[in-house]
Amino acid sequence: MNSTTYPTQPARVGLPELLDGIREQTSRGLDPRPTALAVADVLREQTPGVDLLTAEERLGDPHELVSNVLHTESAFSVKAVVWQPGQLTAIHDHLAWCAFVVLQGVEYETLYRDHGDHLTEIGRAANGPGEASGFAPPGDIHRVHNTGDVTAISLHVYGADLGADGASVRREYDLPVR
Ligand SMILES: [Fe+2]
Repeated sequence: MNSTTYPTQPARVGLPELLDGIREQTSRGLDPRPTALAVADVLREQTPGVDLLTAEERLGDPHELVSNVLHTESAFSVKAVVWQPGQLTAIHDHLAWCAFVVLQGVEYETLYRDHGDHLTEIGRAANGPGEASGFAPPGDIHRVHNTGDVTAISLHVYGADLGADGASVRREYDLPVR
């Protein structure tokens, strides 16, 4: 337990190694999309266990999905997200590339296209434990929904310094889906 370096964070087993792997990719100077895919490969190869989070953090919150920023630096940030059954994000897109891996449960993602006055659904994905993917704007309008009956936990990496609680969201879409 190193309470000197990160006094507000519990020990995160495996996190320093994972950050090294991510940093190796983000420092290559690739474009956003290949960077996101390369970081997704790192997440797939070095998927941490759910014990990256404390037992209390893994519970989530019945009132809202919980984001826990585990690390930020200038090139990227790492967040753990805990979704109780039924919890979902707004339909949104991002300013920065993003890669994620599921640690527990299943994350259901729906992709949309913006037609100005409405959206259409253009794809769906269901990712289970150890499955990772990456994407980069533009064209990354999506919603994530835990439609399963167990709490889902995932690790998200964004290509930006999010500070303590930022989310890199460019826009939330309150448009009808046709
Ligand atoms: Fe997102």
